[in-house]
Amino acid sequence: MIHPVILCGGSGTRLWPTSRKAYPKQFAKLLSDESLYQTTLRRLSGPMFSRPIVMTNELFRFLASQQAGQIGLTDARVVVEPILRDTGPAILAAAMIVAQDEGKDALMLVAPSDHVISDIPSFLASVEAGVKVAETGALVTFGIVPTRPETGYGYLELSAQPNGSGEAISLTSFREKPDAATAAEFLEAGNYLWNGGIFLFRAGDVIASFEANAPQLIAPVRAALDQGEDDLSLFRLGIEGFGAAESISFDYAVMEKADKVAAVPLTCPWSDLGSWDALWAEEQPDAEGVATRGQATAVDCSDSYLRSDDDNIHVVGLGLNDTVVVAMRDAVLVADKDRAQDVKALVNTLREVE
Ligand code: GDD
Ligand code: MG
Repeated sequence: MIHPVILCGGSGTRLWPTSRKAYPKQFAKLLSDESLYQTTLRRLSGPMFSRPIVMTNELFRFLASQQAGQIGLTDARVVVEPILRDTGPAILAAAMIVAQDEGKDALMLVAPSDHVISDIPSFLASVEAGVKVAETGALVTFGIVPTRPETGYGYLELSAQPNGSGEAISLTSFREKPDAATAAEFLEAGNYLWNGGIFLFRAGDVIASFEANAPQLIAPVRAALDQGEDDLSLFRLGIEGFGAAESISFDYAVMEKADKVAAVPLTCPWSDLGSWDALWAEEQPDAEGVATRGQATAVDCSDSYLRSDDDNIHVVGLGLNDTVVVAMRDAVLVADKDRAQDVKALVNTLREVE
């Protein structure tokens, strides 16, 4: 059995105004009536998997348990982080819980909740391929063939070319979020995959890797667990311990430094719905490159995304090119589609409507 660990404590500001501080993208109904978080839970609830552990922030504790309940998952174990500390401390806490309850050899699959993975059988076959390697003690990640010099992802340097069989390949290096020039070099080199942000390992192996590569996290996270308290169906980590942990992502804390790392190339379509241009692509735009969602009409537009997230607002675009329009009850975004990445910085200057 694999123990799924779902990460859903991030805030996803580049999808503002749909993604809000108190209602981030993983809980929003972006592409269907189901949130990405719910789709992730469903993807990891088949016979290969045991009861999921949901790692989330204090702010989203109700959303996380309510949305799990809505899809009939009443046994998800929700672990609440009392303060934002990024994914490193969250994954370590989850690993300590799995090791304590199920033993050090128990396998865990860590999955972000902001991805679209459409071909589930193919995804599960990749997970199966990963299990064999994780059982040898490697930290396994899942890779995607890069299509652009994206600076928002990690890059996996492969020790050999993928042969298309979907088997795991050991890594020469892991580089989190390189600058633009380095990302362009990696794309050109051809022996790099994007890091999909999904990880598979035995609980004891990842704890040992934290001990070797990020030892400063061990005592605070252990203390947070010891001070933790049950709160109805939730488990809340102690703030004293957790607050003392460094805020660092798992990619920087462990993956960049660990020695025994392997990648399974994913053969299923994968998309990180990080920004409006990614969402536009996922909506399957028409021949003119136009996509709409909700009450939205495009007339003589091209390469644009028009979206209304409020039934009372009809968005109409006339003669727009390369534009994103997203309407909500209290905020409307009108942006150049090529500047989708800049929405994050924009939101930082707009604190009052976060
Ligand atoms: N529980 C918890 N606590 N979850 C968190 C926290 C936290 O403090 N911070 C972020 N998350 C969740 C997010 O909600 C998301 O589901 C997942 O962890 C990954 O965090 P992101 O902040 O979205 O990471 P990223 O997209 O910048 O980078 C990661 O994913 C890329 C692929 O999408 C890295 O793993 C990259 O290497 C990778 O390429
Ligand atoms: Mg992300």
